[in-house]
Amino acid sequence: MTNLQPQEKTTKNQALPISYTIEDWQKGYQSQKQEYDYWIDNITGEIPPELHGTLFRNGPGLLDINGEILPHPFDGDGMINKITFINGRAHYRNKFVETEGYLAEKKAGKILYRGVFGTQKPGGLLANIFDLRIKHIANTNVIYWGKKLLALWEAAEPYLLNPYTLETIGNEYFNGSLSQKEAFSAHPRIDTNGTLVNFAIKPGLKTTITIFEINQSGEMKSKKNYQVPGFCFIHDFLITEKYCIFFQNPVNFNPIPFLLGISSASQCIKLQKYQPSKIIIIPRHSTSEDDKMQILETKAGFIFHHVNAFEVANELIVDSICYESLTTVEPKSDYRYTNFDNNSPGQLYRFTINLSQDKVESQLIDKRSVEFPTINPNNVGKPYRFLYTSATHYDIGNAPLQAIFKVDLASGKRQIWSAAPRGFTGEPVFIPRANSSAEDDGWLITVVYNAENNCSDVVILDARDLEKGAVATLHLKNHIPYGLHGSFTPEIFI
Ligand code: CO
Repeated sequence: MTNLQPQEKTTKNQALPISYTIEDWQKGYQSQKQEYDYWIDNITGEIPPELHGTLFRNGPGLLDINGEILPHPFDGDGMINKITFINGRAHYRNKFVETEGYLAEKKAGKILYRGVFGTQKPGGLLANIFDLRIKHIANTNVIYWGKKLLALWEAAEPYLLNPYTLETIGNEYFNGSLSQKEAFSAHPRIDTNGTLVNFAIKPGLKTTITIFEINQSGEMKSKKNYQVPGFCFIHDFLITEKYCIFFQNPVNFNPIPFLLGISSASQCIKLQKYQPSKIIIIPRHSTSEDDKMQILETKAGFIFHHVNAFEVANELIVDSICYESLTTVEPKSDYRYTNFDNNSPGQLYRFTINLSQDKVESQLIDKRSVEFPTINPNNVGKPYRFLYTSATHYDIGNAPLQAIFKVDLASGKRQIWSAAPRGFTGEPVFIPRANSSAEDDGWLITVVYNAENNCSDVVILDARDLEKGAVATLHLKNHIPYGLHGSFTPEIFI
C-alpha cells in the first residue's frame, strides 16, 4: 500500500493525477519465452496454511514472434501459469499451450497466421487477401473441470492440458458433443448446483448463440441453439437460476477490409453509439412455449465483462463493467503507446431489468476505472454483497490497472489496495475460506507485474480487509506478461 500524492498533469480538459510511468507499464508487455518450474523461496509475509490448492492463470506469453512485435497483446500465444499452495509453501510453473499455430510459428521463426486483433502476415495485402485462417491461440482462460485442465479461447474448441506438467494433450470435444473448430467461450460460469454453463457465438446474418451445460464429471448435459437478429460481439455472459443473460453491444461489422486483407476482424467492428444495447434473456430450463427468449433494450455502451446477476421477484439485477466507447486498434498504431486519457474508463453499472414491464434501468455504481471483476463463487447467479475488481490507483480518469478494489454493495463502503507507482495488477481470484459462511471471508490472489525488478509477484490479500496490506507477497524469479483470466481449484498437482 503506497500513499501517492496526486501529481498535476495537464490534459485537454482537466488535470488528472498520474500514478505510473508509461515506460514502466510497457515493460509488462515483454514476451516470456522461458518455461520455469521451481519452489518460490522469496516470500514477504506468510502464506496462510489453510490456503491449499492450485491457481491456474492464462494470458499471452509471446508478444513478439522472433522480434516482430504483435500489434495487439490479445493476439499473443497462450501461456499457462500454475501456482500451487500446499502446507504454507508455494510452487511455480509455466508452459506455453502448444497449439498447432504456436508450434508452426516456433519452427518457422516468423508470423504465419493472421490474428483477430490486428496481426497480419508479413508481405502486405497480397499475403493476407482472402486468407481467413486465424490462429487458435488458447490464451484467454484456464479451468479445471470434470478432472480436465482446459485452456479456453472464445472462437474455437478448448485445448486439453496435463495439470501436473502443463503439457498439451490435444483438443477437448466433450465426448463428441463439440465439433472441430466449434466455438466454446472463455467465460464459463459455474452455478451453485455444480453445473458449468458456457456459450458460443456463431456470427452470420442472424447470430446463433449456443448454450452448453456440463456437469461435474465433464459430461455435456445440454446443448441448445438460439437465433438472434444482427451481428453479435459477445465476450462474457451471466447466469441466474432460471436464465442466461447476454448483452448485445450495438456494433456493426463490415467484413470487407478483413476479407481484403487490409484489416483484422476486430478492426472491422465499430460501436454504434446512438443505437441501443440489447439484453437477450434466455430461459435455462424452458418447459413450455411461454418460456421464450426475451430481448429488451437499454442505452448504448460496450461491455466485455459482467460481475454477477440475480433474480428478485419479476426483476433481474445485473452488474457489469461498461465503456462509453470501444477502443479499437487502428492499423499501424502501437498499443504500447496507448494514451489512456483518450480511452473511456470501464465503470461499474447496475441494470435493473423488469421482465413483466419490459423495462430496464441503469445506474452507475462507481466512477473508478475497473476491469476483471470477481465475486465469491458461492454467490454466482444469486443475491450477493461484495464484488472485487482490478482498478486504477486513483478514482478518476483512465490509467493502467494498479490496484485491487472491493465494493460493499449493501453499505456502499469501498476498500482499495494499491501496487502503484511501479506495480500493475491483474485479475483478482477470490478463494473462500473453507467452512466459513461470511461472504467476504477468504483471499484474493492477483499477479502483479513489478517494474522495479522486472519480475512478477503473486499477492495474497485478506478479502475482508484489503487496506491492512498483503498477507503474503510471493516474489517470482521471472515476469509474467499481463495476463487475462484464471481460476482456482482446491486440488493439488505436484
Ligand atoms: Co474476458
